[in-house]
Amino acid sequence: MKFVLASQNRHKLEEMQAILSAHGVEVVLQADLGLHVDVEETGETFAANAMLKARAVMEASGLPAIADDSGVCVDALNGAPGVYSARYGGPELDDAGRYRLLLANLRGATSRTAHFTSCIACVFPSGDTIEAEGICPGTIAFAPQGTGGFGYDPVFFLPELRKTYAQLTPDEKAAVSHRGKALEVFDKKLREYLKGKN
Ligand code: IMP
Repeated sequence: MKFVLASQNRHKLEEMQAILSAHGVEVVLQADLGLHVDVEETGETFAANAMLKARAVMEASGLPAIADDSGVCVDALNGAPGVYSARYGGPELDDAGRYRLLLANLRGATSRTAHFTSCIACVFPSGDTIEAEGICPGTIAFAPQGTGGFGYDPVFFLPELRKTYAQLTPDEKAAVSHRGKALEVFDKKLREYLKGKN
């Protein structure tokens, strides 16, 4: 079964493919099908934005589409960057610029607790939908550590492992991460859904 991923983010593709391929699901980037659907993320929640993206790409491709909307929510910043994680600090910042801004905004904060959320939405050409959510609690490190992953990985610290996301191998990250957990839930729901179709 082939799903189109409503994203340009190859890191997300790799994380999703690693988990879903075990169940015969192939995930391709929309760009690999020659599609360039750019969806404005106008939703106020991760779930709403994931659904917006998946629906638009399903309509453009005619194939089942899957989208992940994710971000890091920091308690001392009232949940920011949250749904604005990809745009934090404006379009001129890159990943490192965004996590440096986050570290600067947390200077002197008494709490550094945070969590990552991933909402996955899947829309089938029939109009059927599947949604799944995963959350990973952690803290924001005082300085970046590690070179793996993407985005805020170097500053997202897991106290139990005493490592940031960026210090984990892809398998280690998938075992504990927000996206790994959301994909696990998604995978179960997808199997139930497909069973009901046979
Ligand atoms: P989205 O593509 O609108 O879902 O944007 C999500 C943004 O949140 C990304 O651009 C990253 O900055 C951040 N993000 C999401 N998942 C991760 C992750 O697993 N590690 C680090 N940053 C992430």
